[in-house]
Amino acid sequence: MINMLDVTYVRMGTPDLAHARKFALEVLGLDVSDQVRDALCFKSDDRAHTLCYFKGDPADNTVGFEVADMAALEAAAVRLEGLGRPVRLATASEAEQRMARAVLMFEDANDNRLELVVRPAYDGRRYHGTRDAGITGFSHVGLHSRDPVRDERFWTDVTNARVSDRIGDAPLLRIDEVHHSIALFPSARRGVQHVNHQVQSSDDIMRSWALLKEKRVPIVFGPGRHPTSSARFLYFEGPDGMVFEYSSGVRSIADELAYREKQFPFEPKGFCQWGAKPVIAEFRN
Ligand SMILES: [Fe+2]
Repeated sequence: MINMLDVTYVRMGTPDLAHARKFALEVLGLDVSDQVRDALCFKSDDRAHTLCYFKGDPADNTVGFEVADMAALEAAAVRLEGLGRPVRLATASEAEQRMARAVLMFEDANDNRLELVVRPAYDGRRYHGTRDAGITGFSHVGLHSRDPVRDERFWTDVTNARVSDRIGDAPLLRIDEVHHSIALFPSARRGVQHVNHQVQSSDDIMRSWALLKEKRVPIVFGPGRHPTSSARFLYFEGPDGMVFEYSSGVRSIADELAYREKQFPFEPKGFCQWGAKPVIAEFRN
């Protein structure tokens, strides 16, 4: 069992680093953490970085998950290789770029690129956004899945991910008390489908909604409220067509034994209880 402690970072290629920087600072509201060669890293909470854009292909993206220590990393490598999944230990320079002690790279059943991370850096500097977006931290990712049933099995068999709820066959998976850190959405593609940051309150969501409309950022879903996690949300489009989400009030599942997952329909009401309709391909039939 690969015991993932937290979702640590997203790394994404972009042909236009200057545009990605402008978006991350002026729209999303992150802080520059570091610029290492052709990579620009951003901070959204106490960690040294949680989002990194590098010069490259937008289809080239990866998600990092923290594991406890080197022993956990080595055990994960053995488990994944036993399943016939190739693994690769990051070079010293790759680990340095990721601000971590060690990183193991692999792909899930959908060929989504993933990384297990030992000792991701905290930099002791308080996050304060370049604008007041109210961000409290990087919180979850949506992943593309050509076969959500198969991929749910991969995540729940191989890692500590548990199903919190399903929308159709799309599982929302938790690795700690947060309702979901990973969500798998039906798609013909691979990789990261959306990137979520939590914000402090519904006021932050509504303030950002007004600001994003003014800046002509495409709003692709919301404002709304998820019936699954109970979070209020707003989805919008970032560089290279990537979907970003702010949400607030995500459910916490403290009592594992008392909780049972629920089934929601794969239609707009399964995604939003306020009646908002998504214009996100993976959220539509
Ligand atoms: Fe989300």
